[in-house]
Amino acid sequence: MQIRIPLAFYLIALVLCNPLPDILKRCRINDTGCLASSVEYAIAKMGNGLPELQMPPIDPLSLEDLVVQASDGPVSMYQNYSNTKINHLTKLTVNQFKINLDPCEINLETFYPSLFCSGDFFIKGELFGFDINGGETANGTSTNTTIGVTLTCNRNKDNGKEYIKVTDVKVLVNWGTMVLHYGNVFKDDEQRNRDLDKKVNDNSNDILETAKGDFQVLLESLFEDWSNKVFSKYAVNEIFDIS
Ligand SMILES: *[C@@H]1O[C@H](CO)[C@@H](O)[C@H](O)[C@H]1NC(C)=O
Ligand SMILES: *[C@@H]1O[C@H](CO)[C@@H](O)[C@H](O)[C@H]1NC(C)=O
Ligand SMILES: *[C@@H]1O[C@H](CO)[C@@H](O)[C@H](O)[C@H]1NC(C)=O
Ligand SMILES: *[C@@H]1O[C@H](CO)[C@@H](O)[C@H](O)[C@H]1NC(C)=O
Repeated sequence: MQIRIPLAFYLIALVLCNPLPDILKRCRINDTGCLASSVEYAIAKMGNGLPELQMPPIDPLSLEDLVVQASDGPVSMYQNYSNTKINHLTKLTVNQFKINLDPCEINLETFYPSLFCSGDFFIKGELFGFDINGGETANGTSTNTTIGVTLTCNRNKDNGKEYIKVTDVKVLVNWGTMVLHYGNVFKDDEQRNRDLDKKVNDNSNDILETAKGDFQVLLESLFEDWSNKVFSKYAVNEIFDIS
């Protein structure tokens, strides 16, 4: 016997289901294995962005200008960075993606074997005995970086569908092993440039610590923006199988 499904049924189904972009695979909401591999696949394909969601390219990821004021601590200097780019954010492993609807919270933990950052910078202050007032282009290569993201959200109904809105994001970056190059800080005094780079890399944790808070805040607003682009367009049950 052949069962005929009326055309009207298909039309209704089409209207009700907002199809996800191809790179987002739908998973059972409690299937953490499926979720982790789905999120990993999506981020890996986001290098050039995702026009249908107005997502910008993430490989390289261009960051807004960052200004770090001198503060107390082992390293005290004014720093600013512009034209900063991070490469290889699409080469990652998602260690965990968990979502809970009540209370509404999402946890994402990612691992990057190798990230490369570069940008223009300016520093002013005393750094390990060097009196610095200048800068040019710097870069850094970070091995075994982990980034943990906790998104706090709420749920609201619109037209009978339920949506998630991310209201707060906390990012924790663990750089792993970072090798920094400050480049030509002392105009063409190669020896002093090399001495500074060595001092910087012997103490890279202290230096990274000074900019860490501001950098994490930058990432927090990016994650909030990206996640809300997805969650405002698709209802919870379109993104996840919650049956
Ligand atoms: C997810 O929840 C469903 C229904 O509550 C249950 O049958 C299934 O075993 C759960 N799966 C996992 C991976 O926990
Ligand atoms: C960084 O500081 C320099 C020197 O004060 C200034 O010329 C430049 O505009 C600043 N850049 C940013 C991104 O704030
Ligand atoms: C990165 O992690 C891998 C695997 O744990 C390890 O073999 C390697 O030595 C680490 N590299 C650095 C530079 O820390
Ligand atoms: C990083 O900066 C150093 C010092 O300026 C430079 O020699 C090196 O070529 C840069 N690395 C890359 C990959 O751009």
